[in-house]
Amino acid sequence: MMNVLVVFGTRPEAIKIAPVIAELRARKSEIRTHVCVTAQHRHMLDQVLDWFGIVPDFDLDLMEANQSLGHLAGRVLSRVGEVLDQVRADVVLVQGDTTTTMAATLAAAYRRAPVGHVEAGLRTYDMRNPFPEELNRRVTSVAATYHFAPTEGAARALLQERTPSGKIYVTGNTVIDALAMTLSRPVHVEAPWDGNGRIVLVTAHRRESFGGPFESMCRALRRLADRNPDVQIVYPVHLNPNVREPVNRILAGHPRIRLIEPLCYQQFVHLMARAYLILTDSGGIQEEAPFLRKPTLVMRETTERPEAIEAGTARLVGTGETSIVECCERLLGDRSDYERMAQAGSPFGDGKASRRIVDILLGKAGGIEPFRPREMSWPASATC
Ligand code: UD1
Ligand code: UDP
Repeated sequence: MMNVLVVFGTRPEAIKIAPVIAELRARKSEIRTHVCVTAQHRHMLDQVLDWFGIVPDFDLDLMEANQSLGHLAGRVLSRVGEVLDQVRADVVLVQGDTTTTMAATLAAAYRRAPVGHVEAGLRTYDMRNPFPEELNRRVTSVAATYHFAPTEGAARALLQERTPSGKIYVTGNTVIDALAMTLSRPVHVEAPWDGNGRIVLVTAHRRESFGGPFESMCRALRRLADRNPDVQIVYPVHLNPNVREPVNRILAGHPRIRLIEPLCYQQFVHLMARAYLILTDSGGIQEEAPFLRKPTLVMRETTERPEAIEAGTARLVGTGETSIVECCERLLGDRSDYERMAQAGSPFGDGKASRRIVDILLGKAGGIEPFRPREMSWPASATC
């Protein structure tokens, strides 16, 4: 019997690891699955646990208001270590690039427990963008044993860093598995819009944008709402106080801007499906939007997900007020450009990533060989 400990803490990790947990639990004659949440997020994590029916075996309940990176990282490192002392894990699974991901990986590595990293190999090679995620995922890659890369580009990045090639697998991104699971279940949608106009769905929360760039994104949204009476902006506002303060100060009270609380995942997916276009700095949404055929403008200077940009479903628009307004209005005004973006296709997986990951752990790869590059070249990125 294989002992697997799954550790996660935030909303996006929970969404992307939920289908892996479902797959692990479906193999209960071969695998004993232990779920540990750090609860780096509380409310936003619990929304996802509820939807996917996950009841953690360990809930460390670590979130504090406006927590600092170092303080949180230290607590994750020591508390996950204590869990590892109770569960003699054959493998510890982590996902993504959060503080929980990085510190749980270190906790496992210090105990010489093998780590499997889901969504491995995403890179910008700029430690400040995104911060601290680029640092977190590179530390995680150095310490992990199994690297589940969502795309060939991610697998290539790992190989170029001399990650042992026999342990890199291209699986697809489990976010597509989660999305497919969610779309297959009936959901009662509470519409946070009034039924008129085209919905521009917005999310933003990145730390490197706090301060000036965040204010300029907010001003862009206000200008878009002022100048485009057929547009309604719907913005579920992240619970981080550094996000909520400028958003409320600059955007509250506008008749065509709906500021709402973070939506539970199933509601958010249906809102994405209903939106005309998406403005975001989120990682996960860059992957989900192409699957839902929603053109996406990425309010960041760089992205570790060049596949959507190369495919043509997403564009980098930066955080500058003028650039965001111009790129968005150009798309709102050009139907054929819009259709080209909408129909460009989904490069992030086929909905079977979780099954592949569990097969690989069980040594039943059944045709899933470690990644062998056809050629080594870097994907290009494009701006609006
Ligand atoms: C974290 C991740 C980021 C990820 C994002 C997804 C790190 C350093 N950052 O950023 O990579 O993209 O989650 O959303 O790991 N809060 C609540 N309730 C919640 C969640 C957050 O009140 O359910 C507030 C708390 O005041 C908390 C603050 O938000 O201290 C920041 O949370 P934290 O997880 O440290 O950072 P995020 O900005 O959410
Ligand atoms: N999401 C959600 N409710 C919301 C906004 C986003 O469930 O109100 C989902 C979204 O579908 C995606 C994930 O949260 O799967 C992205 O999380 P976030 O943007 O916080 O983090 P990132 O992906 O940037 O790390």
